[in-house]
Amino acid sequence: MLWVVLAVFVTFILILFVLSELIAPKKISLNGAHVLVTGGSSGIGKCLAIEAARRGASVTLLARNQARLEEARAEVQKHLADNKQQKVLCVSADVTKDFNALEKTVKQVEEEQGPITALINCAGTSMSAKFLDTPVEEFKRMMDINYLGSVLLTRAVLPSLMRQKQGRIVLVSSMAGQLGLFGYTAYSASKFALRGMAESLQMEVRPFNIQVTLAFPPDTDTPGFAEEQKSKPKETRLISESGGLFQPEVVAKSILDDMMRGRFVSSIGLDGFMLSTITAGFSPISSIMEALQQVSLMGLFRFISLFYLAHFDHTVKKCHQETEAESNKKSS
Ligand SMILES: NC(=O)c1ccc[n+]([C@@H]2O[C@H](COP(=O)([O-])OP(=O)(O)OC[C@H]3O[C@@H](n4cnc5c(N)ncnc54)[C@H](OP(=O)(O)O)[C@@H]3O)[C@@H](O)[C@H]2O)c1
Repeated sequence: MLWVVLAVFVTFILILFVLSELIAPKKISLNGAHVLVTGGSSGIGKCLAIEAARRGASVTLLARNQARLEEARAEVQKHLADNKQQKVLCVSADVTKDFNALEKTVKQVEEEQGPITALINCAGTSMSAKFLDTPVEEFKRMMDINYLGSVLLTRAVLPSLMRQKQGRIVLVSSMAGQLGLFGYTAYSASKFALRGMAESLQMEVRPFNIQVTLAFPPDTDTPGFAEEQKSKPKETRLISESGGLFQPEVVAKSILDDMMRGRFVSSIGLDGFMLSTITAGFSPISSIMEALQQVSLMGLFRFISLFYLAHFDHTVKKCHQETEAESNKKSS
């Protein structure tokens, strides 16, 4: 009897697995595609551009600093696939500024490189400080770059994707866009905002055969990360260190794979898988297997997360006690 139940169960899972692949969005090829990467002159964005070029796409890099853009372009050009049509273009623009100018820029790059197939919103910045040590302007700056920058570029590119009745839009959030951590009141809020946008947008654009991918990178070894480290509170450093440090090439490959497969969520590593499962909420699913994983693992992962939270709270308490002891020593 046990064998029959087991056989039925295995058959059921196999059927779901096959159906899952049939229902999942079709994987796209980047050969001959045009990929626009904001923040393409550095870190994860540059690696995304290199990886897209390797897979045969023409690439447009968008960032502000022209010199860094040119350096990145030279690097991306070394990784072109064996495709004679491929070009690498760079445009200097600020994703937080004039929307009309951004629309014009998009039109111009499409005239040169053909219609955009995939938009990767990777331009972003981070900062960490305790809430009361964060200047009010920083809250606004984070929202401007990390959230509104993605809104403006997506707004400028979407009409073209809708006309083509196909396309991909990637929004690069962060693990800090899945859970709030000490020191990230400004940064986390701006990355959480992307989730609301991504979930709503996915529902609107699916009839046009456009897939949205929301990426949640972990700590990644980039110039931006190195800059953030300089002023990170001790608590934030200790808490985030426990997740390890990833290489931008690895993160970029994973995001690009997920984008090509049309997955809504892109995460990396065991912590990434756990966090994405716990925080799935009402987000769209990309396959039946993914839904099954979430339904079966959410409770268990929530249980495990309580131990993480206790560890984080303990770290904060310890740092607080150390600071108090130091200031008592100084005043005595
Ligand atoms: N590194 C990590 O640990 C990590 C973890 C999770 C998520 N992320 C996210 O991943 C993305 C890339 O991070 P990264 O560490 O690779 O950053 P990075 O090395 O600092 O690169 C940031 C890129 O964004 C561009 N940029 C910044 N502000 C811009 C603006 N207003 N307009 C246009 N371009 C702008 C920069 O060029 P210009 O300065 O020349 O404009 C640069 O090309 C960010 O959204 C970040 O929040 C990073």
